[in-house]
Amino acid sequence: MRFTAKSTLEMRCPITGMRIPLTPEELALIVRAPAAEWREVDECALALGVDAATLADLAERGLLLSDADAPLAQALRDGEARLEAVGWHPDAALYHAASQWQGVIGEEGRRRHDDAAHRERLQQHAATLGPLPPHAWRREDALARSPLPIEPLDDAFATTLRARRTTRHFRTEVALPLADFTRVLYGTFGTLGAETLAPDMVALRRTSASGGGLHPIDAYPLVINVEGLAPGVYHYESDTHALALLQPLARERARALASALTIGQEYFAEAHALVFHVARLDRHHWKYRRHPKAYKAVLLDSGHLSQTFYLLAAERGLGAFYTAAINDADVAALLKLRPQVEIAIGANGVGVPDPSRDLLHLKPVPWAAVAE
Ligand SMILES: Cc1cc2nc3c(=O)[nH]c(=O)nc-3n(C[C@H](O)[C@H](O)[C@H](O)COP(=O)(O)O)c2cc1C
Repeated sequence: MRFTAKSTLEMRCPITGMRIPLTPEELALIVRAPAAEWREVDECALALGVDAATLADLAERGLLLSDADAPLAQALRDGEARLEAVGWHPDAALYHAASQWQGVIGEEGRRRHDDAAHRERLQQHAATLGPLPPHAWRREDALARSPLPIEPLDDAFATTLRARRTTRHFRTEVALPLADFTRVLYGTFGTLGAETLAPDMVALRRTSASGGGLHPIDAYPLVINVEGLAPGVYHYESDTHALALLQPLARERARALASALTIGQEYFAEAHALVFHVARLDRHHWKYRRHPKAYKAVLLDSGHLSQTFYLLAAERGLGAFYTAAINDADVAALLKLRPQVEIAIGANGVGVPDPSRDLLHLKPVPWAAVAE
């Protein structure tokens, strides 16, 4: 057996996402430190057989909680209290913290965006990693195989399904009609029904499914160029179908933000509006407290909403996209989200498409299922 990696020891913080290197001796100390209650530092040092300065050093590096005034100590204390109050599953909290981005500019911003460049990149990838596993395959252990009759996908609903696609080029010289924007917003995030299941526990009906009927995801539009709406950041009030203006922005600033918040994917700044999906975990985790699947369910809710958003846009001949590649921490700062309670998951975008410049979308040849 060959080992090429050097082993290192580090702690990963479920609040800040920081990786903190430490020694095996420090780890042994930390696991013996009292975790359930606050202790005086001298008492704690005596019990652990170290001096108070050693404990202060661990606290300064974010390895122990302390009641110091330092910003990191405060952030860790408050963060821990909120994780507990909201009912995060510890594994989910760790993954979430570790996957937060701030000020990231992805490679997308620096790449050439045309078919030839895209294909070249994929060929280089294949040269390094070998071929992509095939798109279709057969289970060798299948007991029998039944060709199925094909139901034609040619009615109005199926035509919309077929028209759904990701758009990355929009007509920046025209405004998106307000009716188009609000139809997509209402059709995706609007409240269509409400049912009180227990005192103060109202389950909602939207056009998408949601784990537990909770619909914890709010829509925060970043309006760039929509008829009758000032560019800026809004919160969509889904019970009354109203937009609350949080921050007006000059149009060019709104465009620049759209690109920066989607890690420099400049083509998304051409959209007429982005809509950030933000989950309120205090609502969701009220039902799914410290649940190992809760985080996954919230992410899946966002996927369901996004597909509905795409379809509503497709039905009107609009362009749409979804991206999970967002600078979540910057979105949180812009929207003034409550840390550990409200989390940004991704963003849809919508606008008037510009097919004349649409170089980036897939152009798959039609495929018809034919039984072998
Ligand atoms: C979860 C998710 C994340 C995505 N992130 C990005 C992204 O960051 N940038 C981008 O250009 N497209 C993104 N897309 C769009 C996909 O690239 C697109 O769906 C895929 O190429 C298939 O094309 P189609 O949607 O036109 O069928 C994302 C789609 C999904 C579902």
